[in-house]
Amino acid sequence: MIGISFLRIGRHRLLSACLAVYVVFVLGKLWHSTEVSRPFLVPLPVDKNLDHFRRSRSLKNYIDAIQILIEPSTTACDGPEQVSVLVLVTSSPSRVDQRAVIRSTWAQHMPTYFVLGTELSGDDSFSDVYLEAKEYGDMVVFDFEDHYQNLTLKTALMLQWSARRCPQAEFLFKTDDDVFVNPWMLRQVLKDNQGAKVLGYMKNNSFLHRDAYNKWFVPRWLRREDHLQEYLSGTGYLISGEYTTKLLKAANEVPLLNLEDVYFTYLVAKEALSLNLTHDRRLSPYKPWIPFACSYFGLASAHSLSPEEIKLAWDKLVSIVRERGDCENYEYLCHDWFLY
Ligand SMILES: *[C@@H]1O[C@H](CO)[C@@H](O)[C@H](O)[C@H]1NC(C)=O
Ligand SMILES: *[C@@H]1O[C@H](CO)[C@@H](O)[C@H](O)[C@H]1NC(C)=O
Ligand SMILES: *[C@@H]1O[C@H](CO)[C@@H](O)[C@H](O)[C@H]1NC(C)=O
Repeated sequence: MIGISFLRIGRHRLLSACLAVYVVFVLGKLWHSTEVSRPFLVPLPVDKNLDHFRRSRSLKNYIDAIQILIEPSTTACDGPEQVSVLVLVTSSPSRVDQRAVIRSTWAQHMPTYFVLGTELSGDDSFSDVYLEAKEYGDMVVFDFEDHYQNLTLKTALMLQWSARRCPQAEFLFKTDDDVFVNPWMLRQVLKDNQGAKVLGYMKNNSFLHRDAYNKWFVPRWLRREDHLQEYLSGTGYLISGEYTTKLLKAANEVPLLNLEDVYFTYLVAKEALSLNLTHDRRLSPYKPWIPFACSYFGLASAHSLSPEEIKLAWDKLVSIVRERGDCENYEYLCHDWFLY
């Protein structure tokens, strides 16, 4: 008896010690990262990048004029196998490390392709993209300026490409290159939401950003109403394969907006097509606050991770899936709890 209760106390002490050490570590990391990220906080006005919307807001006008420069000659959709989820990842030419880590981790478990535009600045950047595309055969490159304010065009091109190259996919998963995906939980999410047409993390009752220096700025001449009833976060949402073409068609009647998720999930899917949006909290647009390995096990996606964090989360996830099957009865060992 005495031995057992001693062990219990010992374990509690161990837990507290783990947490204390960890909190100090996280605080240190936070302090460090605010130091490093300061130079990036210098704002740039967004609205001059939206001027072309004054000339045209017709999606068809834009995408009909955009040529495809590179695409894989064969894809996972050319074979006889069923494709349950086709993953298209928004990326840009310079984000080589993000693509590399995704290729070596979660993309091994789902057919995944990266969609890019071109960058004006680098002379070498296009030949680099060309070589990378040739080596991996998983890149789709379009001839338009790769800019955050052009994300709606990129998403439209994704829908168009998946309708053409993978019409049999049951779902298109649109995500970003700083997102960690848990393929096992993603399949579970689909199982738990049978019949869902457009599925993701629902943001309710939001307000548009009216500050011209904000990345998500929407000027009043683009949309008068401040309030948004609901939309699905663009960090990861699923569209039923039978709706990709329907969404594109409906979008031809809906004036463009720079926020791709608001545009496609709310204005086009919900308002123009009257589709119900389905919320699942596991398609998370956030990064777990404390990097418990088991938080990543419980999510289908997590957003805003560096390539290193994606790798760490992936290695832990694989060991949980392989060795334990789930996160119940998780051993209380410090190094197992946390990603780093
Ligand atoms: C977005 O792409 C369109 C079409 O190629 C182009 O006219 C526009 O300048 C781009 N916008 C930005 C901000 O790069
Ligand atoms: C948004 O509303 C939906 C439906 O009313 C609800 O199921 C969901 O939990 C809400 N989303 C969040 C993030 O609270
Ligand atoms: C959409 O949701 C509403 C309210 O929750 C429900 O009444 C309606 O049947 C749903 N429509 C479809 C097509 O599932």
